[in-house]
Amino acid sequence: MPAAGLTKTAVELAPGVHWVGALDPHLRNFDIILKTANGTSYNAYVVRGEQGVAVIDTVKEEFADTFFARLESVARYDEITVIVLNHLEPDHSGALPELLRRAPQARVYLSSRAQMMLKALLKPTGEKAPEYIPVTTDDEVDLGGRTLRFLHTPYLHWPDTQCTYLVEDGLLFTGDIFGCHFCDARLFNDTVGDFRFSFEYYYAHIMRPFREYVLDAIALIEPLAINLIAPAHGPILRHAPRDYVHRYRELATPRLFNEARSEKTLVIFYISAYGNTRRMAEALAAGAEAIGGVRVSLYDLEGGESGIFTDLIEEADGLAFGSPTINADAVKPIWDVLSSLTTVNVKGKLGAAFGSYGWSGEAVRLIEDRLRGLKMRVPLEGLRIKLVPDAGELEECRSLGEQLARHLTGQMKNREIDLAALA
Ligand code: FEO
Repeated sequence: MPAAGLTKTAVELAPGVHWVGALDPHLRNFDIILKTANGTSYNAYVVRGEQGVAVIDTVKEEFADTFFARLESVARYDEITVIVLNHLEPDHSGALPELLRRAPQARVYLSSRAQMMLKALLKPTGEKAPEYIPVTTDDEVDLGGRTLRFLHTPYLHWPDTQCTYLVEDGLLFTGDIFGCHFCDARLFNDTVGDFRFSFEYYYAHIMRPFREYVLDAIALIEPLAINLIAPAHGPILRHAPRDYVHRYRELATPRLFNEARSEKTLVIFYISAYGNTRRMAEALAAGAEAIGGVRVSLYDLEGGESGIFTDLIEEADGLAFGSPTINADAVKPIWDVLSSLTTVNVKGKLGAAFGSYGWSGEAVRLIEDRLRGLKMRVPLEGLRIKLVPDAGELEECRSLGEQLARHLTGQMKNREIDLAALA
């Protein structure tokens, strides 16, 4: 294995700029939700100027010894004037308390949200608190002949996140942005193994829910002259770094053909044991279609897998879910879709639930709870129908579809609550 895997010396990115991170090749699961087939890396960096040294991010606490060994190979602690925190998640801030003890003179540059979060991360020790400098886009710190300029890029993927640009060298330190869980001691994107799947997987699971913020960040990054992108995980992107910026823009841009630009979209998912919930779904769809301006799509989850609907869900304005109740619960294909929604932003979308039941009919309420938990709007009470829907009950389903369509097209008046009646 090349040098970074076997030694604890820093790796040069440019004269006076070094990687001082740590490799974690045996990790197989990150933050519970991400598979890491060949581990990950925690990338931290050192930038030397004529009047000081900056450390950008640290590593997970258990790898602190490696980080400090690499740091000591290129700088003394009393030279460190600046610590930049691009992101506070413990995989990048784990060695921070010890770094602050070893370099107490350093000023800490971070976003204002990070400063608030840091209070919870660094419990009071009785030692003198470091000097924190909240920064935002275009704020700079001069290291002497080298300038660090900050970019405010929040919610990628925590509220605190920011990027740091080394102006004279065109190096961009991006935290988790453009990162991936891919451990390879060769470090650079033009020397490591093929990590494309990991880059895409990381985006889909970490950045995708925040795609509007991705586009805001890309708008700040695209005008920069970039020679190298140094993320906090995975390969350092020195070959064609701008390709990765372009890819992020592609990934964050809506993916479906936009035929329905002038229409609202309602997607109805259902699954049906004996055809009763299916008849409800069809009636609901017919009701929604009767109201102009809504494109309605109907899917039986018995014939699909939850993953293939992700783009559709992300683009939809409204989502309705129909499930029978079996063993006092909604059925698994419905939960598979509902659990997959953590990777897309459905906040504010219109939601509804319906279903046929035999005894107790809990599925509809459970689905509604989940939709509300995802911060969707659920203004209409879900429809539960015992066993076989009759003509009148199908008319209720149709009416629910009509009301959903009216909500989507702005034809539904907000409910007025008479406070006196509540007293
Ligand atoms: Fe790599 Fe969000 O921590």
